Amino acid sequence: MLDRSQFGVETLDSMLGGGLVAGSANIVEGAPGTGKTTLGMQFIVNGIEKYHEPGLIVTFEEFPSQYYHDALNFGWDLKKYEEKGMLKIIFTNPDVVLDEIDEMGGKIESLIDELGIKRCLIDSLTHFEYEVDDENELREMEFDFISSLKRESLTSILLRENNNLLGQTSSLSQAPFIADSYIILRYVEIESAVSKAMLILKMRGSQHAKDIRRFQITEGGFEISEKFIGQDGILSGSPMPSAADAFMKAFVKAG
Ligand SMILES: Nc1ncnc2c1ncn2[C@@H]1O[C@H](COP(=O)(O)OP(=O)(O)OP(=O)(O)O)[C@@H](O)[C@H]1O
Ligand SMILES: [Mg+2]
Repeated sequence: MLDRSQFGVETLDSMLGGGLVAGSANIVEGAPGTGKTTLGMQFIVNGIEKYHEPGLIVTFEEFPSQYYHDALNFGWDLKKYEEKGMLKIIFTNPDVVLDEIDEMGGKIESLIDELGIKRCLIDSLTHFEYEVDDENELREMEFDFISSLKRESLTSILLRENNNLLGQTSSLSQAPFIADSYIILRYVEIESAVSKAMLILKMRGSQHAKDIRRFQITEGGFEISEKFIGQDGILSGSPMPSAADAFMKAFVKAG
């Protein structure tokens, strides 16, 4: 059995076959506001609260106070965890990280020694993509960065922005190929309303759920609910009633 690093969100952990694989690098991708940061923070906070695993957050968000404030909205007091030595948040710029990637590795290494960090959130990987315009350079950089997290046996979540609100993604980045798992958050339009859907697209070396689930962000954080029943094309962002459903309707009507 592989060691698991749980989210502490029951449905999600069971969809992942028990949780993320400990020591793996995992991508969570989604459009603005889908809940990437919330899910990532919840992984870190539950790591501390439920599993006594210290965490590290590296964020490129410009306003630290806003970050702490957003977390407090969910009742997550990040400052308190930092004071207790259970959490370290590094606010930085991608160009700084790129210039000092070796130094950054050194910094992360010493934090791991110092605090015993087991979990890590990178919010977000996309900031690197803005900095590097050469495809090969970007791939190499992402590969080195992700490898360095794995070398330290951290279970990491790397967030990625997807600017297409509905529908497919396009990017030079190879991160989804390099990472061990790939989770997608998405807006979907059903009957003139917008819902959120999540899907585990890949997970190396583990069984995982293949279904597309509805989720919402509540005051307690990430909450997964039922599958989308009778809808095809969820991933395209504009689902249609499924063939089976349409058949049933026609059949029942005809009957
Ligand atoms: N306390 C709360 N209760 C319910 N929903 C909330 C609460 N706080 C924030 N939200 C909602 O959670 C959603 C997700 O926010 P989050 O910052 O996690 O998304 P994100 O994917 O990281 O966005 P971005 O791409 O802008 O970084 C927001 O749309 C917001 O409306
Ligand atoms: Mg965010």
